[in-house]
Amino acid sequence: MKVFTTRKIPQAGIDLLEAEGITVTQWQESRELTQEELIAYSKEADGLLLSGRRKVDTAFLEACSHLKVISLFSVGYDNVDIKAATKFKIPIGHTPDVLSKATAETAFLLMIATARKAFYHHKRIAKGDWDFFEPTVGLGQDLQGKTLGILGLGNIGFEMAKYCKGAYGMDVIYHNRGNNEQAEKELGTKKVSFEELLAQSDVLSVHANLTDELKGIFNAEAFGKMKPNAIFVNTARGGVHDEDDLKQALESGTIWGAGLDVTNPEPMDKNNALLDMPNVSVLPHIGSATKETRDAMAVLAAKNLIAGLKGEKLPACVNP
Ligand code: DGY
Repeated sequence: MKVFTTRKIPQAGIDLLEAEGITVTQWQESRELTQEELIAYSKEADGLLLSGRRKVDTAFLEACSHLKVISLFSVGYDNVDIKAATKFKIPIGHTPDVLSKATAETAFLLMIATARKAFYHHKRIAKGDWDFFEPTVGLGQDLQGKTLGILGLGNIGFEMAKYCKGAYGMDVIYHNRGNNEQAEKELGTKKVSFEELLAQSDVLSVHANLTDELKGIFNAEAFGKMKPNAIFVNTARGGVHDEDDLKQALESGTIWGAGLDVTNPEPMDKNNALLDMPNVSVLPHIGSATKETRDAMAVLAAKNLIAGLKGEKLPACVNP
């Protein structure tokens, strides 16, 4: 059996595949392969490990309907047409749970960095602008006792809620389709409407999958309903927010700050005005980027591939 991976993945995953006698070909270049290249390499393989921005749509699935499994090196699967894959009987694997703590930690980091304008102060030193102590300039805001609002309280949101409650005694409210009874019981979180989430959150952190319903949901109208001291944190998908509207909301003081690990579009242009705003912290989509987490993702992604190639149920399957 042969597997093609669109990125070099940690050796832990490769070792598992090779121990099963699977031949692995890894994309070696530091550029996104084109859709045509993806199809060409996938045609030579029985299983595909997909990381990056390429789409698995009907055209791809028609061209590569022979694939026994597609294993995503991510928890998010918004680049895959799951309905179509299911119609083609191709199981789609992903990597939930193993990255929850690392990703929540990134959200927590962005929240604090934004509240304390850390990236801005770091840049000040680099610019030689550290010559005078000014008690009223460049101030951040406290997080103690504030309200954290979570859109999408799944595993990652739950970890973020635990960090914020433990560190700052924050009250946690959330908006979800269903109820998260465990979080309600263990952390006293309260489910609210989307409107209430906007109106009551001091920090609003997004941890939801990008669905059609959520595309661009954080637009001018939504930012307009948020508190002027609110910090918007997004470690989920940039498609959830409208970047021009976010810029406008920050410039006008409609909201106070933003911490982004995901941008819209990605990668963010180096001249993007958000990068120069004192209340904005931006990271290049590194939510799960710790050695331990990436190893665990590689192992789970490899297990999904192995199961799919054997025609068995994937340990973490997206298809219903
Ligand atoms: C994920 O796991 O979904 C990360 O955002 C990487 O795409």
